[in-house]
Amino acid sequence: MHEPSGQVLNEDAPWNSFDPRTYVETNYRCLTGEDARILEIVRDHFVGHFEHAGDDRSSLRGIDVGTGGNLYPALSLLPWCHEITLCDRAAPNVEWLKRQEWDALSEGGAWLWNQFWEILALRPPYRSIPQPRSRLGTAVRVEQGNLFDLPSGAWGIGTMFFVAESMSTSHEEFARAVRSFLHSLEPGAPFAAAFVEGSAGYHVGPETYPACRVSDTHVRACLRPYADSFEITLVDPSDPPFRDGYTGMIVACGRRNSRPAGPEDL
Ligand SMILES: C[S@@+](CC[C@H](N)C(=O)[O-])C[C@H]1O[C@@H](n2cnc3c(N)ncnc32)[C@H](O)[C@@H]1O
Repeated sequence: MHEPSGQVLNEDAPWNSFDPRTYVETNYRCLTGEDARILEIVRDHFVGHFEHAGDDRSSLRGIDVGTGGNLYPALSLLPWCHEITLCDRAAPNVEWLKRQEWDALSEGGAWLWNQFWEILALRPPYRSIPQPRSRLGTAVRVEQGNLFDLPSGAWGIGTMFFVAESMSTSHEEFARAVRSFLHSLEPGAPFAAAFVEGSAGYHVGPETYPACRVSDTHVRACLRPYADSFEITLVDPSDPPFRDGYTGMIVACGRRNSRPAGPEDL
């Protein structure tokens, strides 16, 4: 598809200069109202999905696409997975993820992600995981990869947070990223995805990263062909807003349908 000039495509952004330490300090040092609400929505979706299916499996392979430095999407997958792939394009993020300390002896210390886990742990089966940090360490496989190259139907549950709209200014690439994520899931797999609404792009330290302005209408249009019974929730920015340059968060929770990926789709 022809892209207007001035576009910054995914391959043009400075991913190899992404600084995950600064990104995490800026965005996740303190739990925001938005993230707390997103955690509740995603937790309730996954718990509801498995309760409804009468399925108490803990042996799925899960994926979090474009993890960056954010470990809370992976934590939301924990009760159902024996293996969780964290896939990111940026080498510094991959190295940072591989350097994480998962040591159970650190359990109970000031792990940044405890405050996020506390919201998940308000409900079983999260609550019955006593050491989420070490359990996550046992489950994760960190892989450097491009989401456009994910294999089809490879994972039984998945998350993708703030990636499809925050990797390019192109709406065509946004739609392709959402499809690629959904195609990576098995038919029937539950998923959760979050998007920044109306984003004008973002800074990580001195670097600027592209975004495309999406609304829930864009998200619905991309999900509809490949997802069953999905629900979209809009989360307002905190007051005062935690960050500039966006109008809210869009959370999409659903289940992959059985429509296969065709060559025209990717
Ligand atoms: C705004 S950050 C979101 C990080 C994290 N998921 C979060 O919730 O904060 C966008 C992430 O997408 C990753 N990314 C960008 N293009 C990608 C691609 N083509 N394939 C996989 N990851 C990509 C970046 O490296 C970065 O970690």
